Amino acid sequence: MCGIVGYIGKREAYPILIKGLKRLEYRGYDSAGVALINKRDDLNVYKTKGKVADLENFCSDKDITGTVGIAHTRWATHGEPSSVNAHPHYSESKNLAIIHNGIIENYAQIKKNLINKGMHFRSDTDTEVLVQLIEYIQVTRKVPLLSAVQMALRQVIGAYAIALLDKREPNQIIAARKASPLVIGIGKDSGEFFLGSDASPIIEYTDQVVYLDDENIAVMRPGEPLKVVDIHNIALNPDVQTIDMNLGQIEKGGFPHFMLKEIFEQPECLKNCMRGRVVSRTVETRAMTDGKKEGPMQSHTEMGVVLSSIVDHRQQILNAHRIIIVACGTSWHAGLIGKQMLETYCRIPVDVEYASEFRYRNPVVTKDDVVIAISQSGETADTLAAIKLAKEKGAFIYGICNAIGSSIARATDTGTYIHVGPEIGVASTKAFTGQVTVLCLLALAVGKEKGTVSDKDYQEITTQLWDIPEKMKEVLKLNNKIADLSRTFTYARNFLYLGRGYSYPVALEGALKLKEISYIHAEGYPAAEMKHGPIALIDSDMPVVVIAPHDAMYEKVLSNIQEIKARDGRVIALVTKGDETISKIADEVIELPKTLECLEPLLATIPLQLLAYHVAVCKGKNVDQPRNLAKSVTVE
Ligand code: AGP
Ligand code: GLU
Repeated sequence: MCGIVGYIGKREAYPILIKGLKRLEYRGYDSAGVALINKRDDLNVYKTKGKVADLENFCSDKDITGTVGIAHTRWATHGEPSSVNAHPHYSESKNLAIIHNGIIENYAQIKKNLINKGMHFRSDTDTEVLVQLIEYIQVTRKVPLLSAVQMALRQVIGAYAIALLDKREPNQIIAARKASPLVIGIGKDSGEFFLGSDASPIIEYTDQVVYLDDENIAVMRPGEPLKVVDIHNIALNPDVQTIDMNLGQIEKGGFPHFMLKEIFEQPECLKNCMRGRVVSRTVETRAMTDGKKEGPMQSHTEMGVVLSSIVDHRQQILNAHRIIIVACGTSWHAGLIGKQMLETYCRIPVDVEYASEFRYRNPVVTKDDVVIAISQSGETADTLAAIKLAKEKGAFIYGICNAIGSSIARATDTGTYIHVGPEIGVASTKAFTGQVTVLCLLALAVGKEKGTVSDKDYQEITTQLWDIPEKMKEVLKLNNKIADLSRTFTYARNFLYLGRGYSYPVALEGALKLKEISYIHAEGYPAAEMKHGPIALIDSDMPVVVIAPHDAMYEKVLSNIQEIKARDGRVIALVTKGDETISKIADEVIELPKTLECLEPLLATIPLQLLAYHVAVCKGKNVDQPRNLAKSVTVE
């Protein structure tokens, strides 16, 4: 959940750590801290409640020298956000300092034992327990730090990515992980090392990285090769990878917020997502004249979908008796759209499950099932646990992730990256449209192989999907109109979002976006269900966003709009360009380019992202870092 940064080498560590924390601040931001070892081998820890900027102020008159350091931005799980609970945490003697992302689940028992042995605690966190345990082992067993870390980690239950400094071994950082992400950057000739919860604080300095595996421990000493061992002290060969990410991808590029930048990036992102996967070929045929003689050659272009995952794992995927999609939040909404596509075009039954419910339910899963895990970050703890459970039950696991090399991407049997680039805004935008695109490609590829999608549909959907980025650009031109419209709705305390069929998950997603960044209560509902309850809420203070494109459900949704207007509700309608009926009834109308029904979510979501964004900006909210949230939910 939180952000971890580390540096050891010849440069001053503090500026690198602060810059890194700012890049990771989207992961958690209730407090921040830094630990540095200076030339005299003092281990200085500075930490404060609030943002990284508050930490910088706090450090302005402190000794921030040193070429080795670790830093943290916290998303509290145990103990309120406060300076005392902020990381790094010293051990009792103050010889050690630790930062931690995750939860030590058996911390209470360990803490009790350590208190009984006479140790004292300063904070309420689970993290402090770990550093105290390491010190206790180090002192009582008289073992080197690495052995103490291994022994301690063998005792803890839970999730961790940690980095540890010991002032008596000032030329070293020890880091370890289990179920929480950690990346090590290797500087030139191993002269320096960088540490990050993801690669964003590292890419400015090196493209050579090592993703630590579960229960692996890394020892970083400048000038020496990276040493990796597991918690049982088995030596491992670090797998050094070259990452393909640039600074421009993780900076705002002239936009006031990452969220707006990411909304506007969507046309480009979808092109990247489809590149090499949607292919066209020219087909030549010779026409017959008079029913006998051969006529001239004619050619036409055919579009097709190629997914390497299907080519490589044809049998498992095509023979699936059932597909179970597991995901959380926005990714779960994408899953609901995927269900409709996969059922329609592949004729395979699909269940869509909240990963957090699925994992605790002892669900019926067999080896004939394919489980599709959808996750932008690839680090969501519940989704990861759902995958583990499904694997144990023998299912084949297919991942749809954005973050390359992430834990989920590595835990799956195969999968497809959405390739939309790093998503920094806490509210997910471009990842959603990327996920829907990949699900559509998957449905087309599987449907084609199974023969369950007609050639006409296959051609039409592929062609129209390819055109979506251009249509998205048209939708983005509505930005100013939506900004104006948003101002008139900042008064609202509740919003209702309605849609049917493919538009129902869009309604859920629109409501989630508004909730998370503007703190206005919003509910997404299937339009036809409104009369079974929510209609009681409608009055002149209730804005209702209705997604009403001109598709099979149009007439029905039109009736719903009339029902809302008859009760004085205020309707913001998303309609297909040229719609004359709804335009006359609704209070506000947003026109979308025409596309196929299954692709409508890719266009209709954008105005809802913009609506949430502008309402939140008008209300003066922190759009990129909404309260209480974090980008990757690496805790249960
Ligand atoms: C969406 O805007 C969210 N902040 C959140 O619901 C997110 O989609 C969810 O936590 C799942 O994350 P993932 O895709 O990284 O697994
Ligand atoms: N569980 C630790 C705490 O509450 C770490 C939380 C985090 O990942 O930021 O301090």
